[in-house]
Amino acid sequence: MPENLKKSNEARIAPSVLACNLARLSEECSAAIAAGADLIHFDVMDNHFVPNLSFGAPLLQSLRADGFTGFVDVHLMTENIEPLIEASVSAGANSITVHYESTPHVHRALSQIKTSGCQAGLAINISTPVAVVENLLDVFDMLLIMTINPGFGGQTLIPASLPKISVARKLFDAAGLSTKIQVDGGVKTHNIASIRAAGADTFVVGSDFFGASDYNAQLAKYRSELKL
Ligand code: DX5
Ligand code: ZN
Repeated sequence: MPENLKKSNEARIAPSVLACNLARLSEECSAAIAAGADLIHFDVMDNHFVPNLSFGAPLLQSLRADGFTGFVDVHLMTENIEPLIEASVSAGANSITVHYESTPHVHRALSQIKTSGCQAGLAINISTPVAVVENLLDVFDMLLIMTINPGFGGQTLIPASLPKISVARKLFDAAGLSTKIQVDGGVKTHNIASIRAAGADTFVVGSDFFGASDYNAQLAKYRSELKL
């Protein structure tokens, strides 16, 4: 397991390549990591689970073939996740995050991810309460609290999702777990500090990061807001 994801609850920045110039994916990922990003967030969409189509494991395979060695978390926003977990592992994912809402057998899917050697993430949509994860605590490493309705970058964070972060942090603390809490959707320079204060440690930044003209300067802004 790469060292950068072993330490619990340290703040991490995860640029979402959904917002980058995909024709230059490898350079964009390398530039993000060189600027100080901790991991790459890779949004897979199928136009069924969410109303949009993005890319899948073959693109990750190409990224690896091009020599990119950074940590990649695959966020699966799809139906029929089991074969896509397998494909993501083969393509070189380090972590795979699946939606609670995408399968009746999320325990099996998370176990499949852990058995593969990848870290396992569990994502919950806006209307899904944190309580649904209580019987799954031993089969995932990171909870992804969606702060938008998934499917598109560039949306505005939905404030009603924020109280779930502190609920999750209390749950993990009470269980003595260092489970990470990731937030995805509408994370920007101006709100990242308040999201951190609520208890999140991993911040997906799509349009706010890749829309910036200077990635180093943008990372410096997040670090300053997070007091890193
Ligand atoms: C949306 C994706 C997000 C998206 C975030 O469904 O899961 O990862 O890229 O984009 P921003 O940061 O622009 O809201
Ligand atoms: Zn995402």
